Amino acid sequence: MKKTILITGAGTGIGRDAAFALAARGHRVLATTFSLAQADALRAEAASRNVVMEVHKLDITDAADRAQILDWPVDVLINNAGMGESGSLAEVDMERIRRVFEINVFATLALTQLALRGMIARGRGTVLFVSSIAGRLPMPFLMPYSMTKFALSAAAAGLREEMDQLGKGVQVAVIEPGAIHTGFNQQMSDSKYAWMDEKSYFYGQMAAMKAKEKRTFAFLEARSTDSIVAKIVQASEAARPRLRYVAPWAQGVMVRLARIFGV
Ligand SMILES: NC(=O)c1ccc[n+]([C@@H]2O[C@H](COP(=O)([O-])OP(=O)(O)OC[C@H]3O[C@@H](n4cnc5c(N)ncnc54)[C@H](OP(=O)(O)O)[C@@H]3O)[C@@H](O)[C@H]2O)c1
Repeated sequence: MKKTILITGAGTGIGRDAAFALAARGHRVLATTFSLAQADALRAEAASRNVVMEVHKLDITDAADRAQILDWPVDVLINNAGMGESGSLAEVDMERIRRVFEINVFATLALTQLALRGMIARGRGTVLFVSSIAGRLPMPFLMPYSMTKFALSAAAAGLREEMDQLGKGVQVAVIEPGAIHTGFNQQMSDSKYAWMDEKSYFYGQMAAMKAKEKRTFAFLEARSTDSIVAKIVQASEAARPRLRYVAPWAQGVMVRLARIFGV
């Protein structure tokens, strides 16, 4: 069955690739982007690839932008938009933590509530939250981000039970990507070096930290978004999605083992 699927943060990375994959499967895709410039670029790319896709600017932190969703009969909402933020919880500015929660959690939930109105009224719909394996395992020095993804993974599980109890046919699932090379991780890791200075507890360790992060992501990151995009497609099309979809596979296994053995 072809569905109307709205995806946020579709101007780049996983969101963009998922939008093209879903459009190729014949769905009506509403690909929404953070900025107008991203919307223009995505429209041009879709046209050059002969792909039919509707592109709109939707900054999820902007209430007027969010309200657009009330005009569209959305069958599947894919909450993909997100930002990264890093640094030690011992010293990172609280405003930075508030900002990342505002985007990754509060704005995501506000958009979801609007989408749910239509879904509940129509008696069908699916909400997907793109969380992270950082929402299952605490990631030191990435905790401002990791905490938001713990919140999202928990929100998905709780909302899923609430929607089951309501019995209006609304499905909820969480997508948990492992490390994937989109530029997101590098931007997130580097964000702390914009403010860490000689006053930081970790100032003396900065060079070693930078080198370790570079090595870790070079080792861990999948080079392509294919595995996680396949999970997003699977969850979007399922009549009864599973609670959790994780990819790449090996990183999913690693997280399970780490949770079992408490490392
Ligand atoms: N790549 C990974 O290793 C990885 C791992 C686990 C989870 N994830 C999650 O996967 C999702 C996509 O990440 P990605 O790797 O594809 O990185 P990405 O290319 O940076 O995608 C995130 C997108 O969200 C957009 N965005 C940021 N704030 C927004 C707002 N207020 N309203 C609307 N859009 C906004 C970004 O726009 P700008 O580019 O203009 O900021 C960007 O287009 C994110 O939720 C991320 O947390 C990624």
